[in-house]
Amino acid sequence: MLKQAPSYPSLLAHFSKIKDSSMLDWFACDSNRAQTMSISAAGLNLDFSKHRIDETAFSLLIKLAQERDVEQKIKNQLNGEQVNTTEKRPALHTALRNQSSSPMYVDGKNIIDEIQATLKKMQGCFEQVQVGQWLGYTNKPITDVISIGIGGSFLGPKLVSNALTPYAKTGIKVHYLANIDGSHFHEVTKNLNPETTLCIVQSKSFSTQETLNNALACRNWMSQSGCQQEDLSKHFLAVTANNSKAIEFGICAENLFPMWDWVGGRYSLWSAIGLPLVFELGFENFQALLDGAYQMDEHFAHAPLAQNMPVIMALLGVWYVNFYGIHSHCILPYDHYLRILPAHLQQLEMESNGKSVLANGESFDYQSGAVIWGAVGTNGQHAFHQLLHQGTHFIPCDFIVPLTSHNPIEDFHAMLVANCFSQSQALLQGKSQEQAMQELLDKGLNESDAKELAKHKKIPGNRPSSTLYFDKLTPSSLGALIALYEHKVAAQGMIWGINSFDQWGVELGKELGNEILPLLTSDIDTCKQDSSTQSLIQAFKRVHKHG
Ligand code: F6P
Repeated sequence: MLKQAPSYPSLLAHFSKIKDSSMLDWFACDSNRAQTMSISAAGLNLDFSKHRIDETAFSLLIKLAQERDVEQKIKNQLNGEQVNTTEKRPALHTALRNQSSSPMYVDGKNIIDEIQATLKKMQGCFEQVQVGQWLGYTNKPITDVISIGIGGSFLGPKLVSNALTPYAKTGIKVHYLANIDGSHFHEVTKNLNPETTLCIVQSKSFSTQETLNNALACRNWMSQSGCQQEDLSKHFLAVTANNSKAIEFGICAENLFPMWDWVGGRYSLWSAIGLPLVFELGFENFQALLDGAYQMDEHFAHAPLAQNMPVIMALLGVWYVNFYGIHSHCILPYDHYLRILPAHLQQLEMESNGKSVLANGESFDYQSGAVIWGAVGTNGQHAFHQLLHQGTHFIPCDFIVPLTSHNPIEDFHAMLVANCFSQSQALLQGKSQEQAMQELLDKGLNESDAKELAKHKKIPGNRPSSTLYFDKLTPSSLGALIALYEHKVAAQGMIWGINSFDQWGVELGKELGNEILPLLTSDIDTCKQDSSTQSLIQAFKRVHKHG
């Protein structure tokens, strides 16, 4: 457990000593601080010098990682041990991007062979569609793909799809259908022609309510347009670990792509769940995405802890959550194409580390998983950054910025980057009341007005952030970026001692949802429900005339 680690008392003592120290003073004393506290891996650069740690805190945190056996735990994960203890599975999403040909066995099967065969099948399917060999039920070529899935079967592919828009040159358009909401279905399908649309049902379990109902709605939409039962196979593929259920749904065996138990949903975009990406970006770009992730995997596997980017990011998180007691973390990508990144990382981190028992089931007496949120810069600057700068508590931020734009317009990109760099600088520097007062006096305000206004213009500063930058948003740098966060989350789980690869917490809501559904659509007595839920049910029924 974290608090039993030998370095924990020293960390606590050192924290008390430096918790209010000024980062600006540290910068002033050490002209190399930015260099010492920067690291590069897989084409990504991390500047973590604007964090409230000094050399001693850094060394103690690395010691903590050593004591928590992070090096061995990384090996265990990457070598396919059953790190997902409650589901008795390895977490081998890294195998999906493993570019080496060395075999890797799970339950006696060489999964590298299966992975390669699946990639080939994905490529083959894409090529058939692209060259117009795969025809719809009226013999027209496919122009659009609907990816039907939710959670990890949606957010990862959607993130990549948005992020790599400049690479979407296959001519095939991909649309994502996730929510159980008629409006979402309507908006996705309203301008599509069923005759030229291919639907991919993306569900590891093939039992997710939203996905199955959306798949049914798509099947009805297809049938109503005139597609006969025997032609449905021209329009439906599935990616799943539950073949029998997919076949029962009506998807023919040749149209099934495998998912494996050893890939968690939120880590699945690298598997055949990435099939929509192959359709949209082409196979080579998908390979380049895998390759970028593989470079980061190699770094995570081999870099010493003190030079290991995901481990450093994990430890910084632990520092704020467990020592400062800050439970919020903001993700700020300065790139329109990365606008889905906060949502993807939110699932990745909160579903993985939102746990309150250790891997062995024992409770623990410290905080874990932070609340992850954020939005694309600069939009957030004109909305919630006020709280980041002047709120009563600080929130560590990750600024993420490619140095080159895919769409340069005059000096837009320099302006965007200037905004990004200046936000982290403003968080660091802040503004004293005296500075604010002097500025107001310089502008010609009288002394008493300047004194009053300066109280409101004072900004505390000393607020931490990381800056992650890279040359350009490419398939490779994006792969490395997503893998970086996957490993950061895993390393945090290793330090906290939790199983980052299950998600039992989401089950209760699903169970209760299944109990409430019939209460909304029939006259079954609602008296077993709490009074709040009862009155909410009544409100629905009043509108729908059931009650
Ligand atoms: O409800 C959570 C969850 O199980 C996620 O972990 C998963 O990514 C998502 O639902 C979708 O699951 P499936 O791919 O099995 O439909």
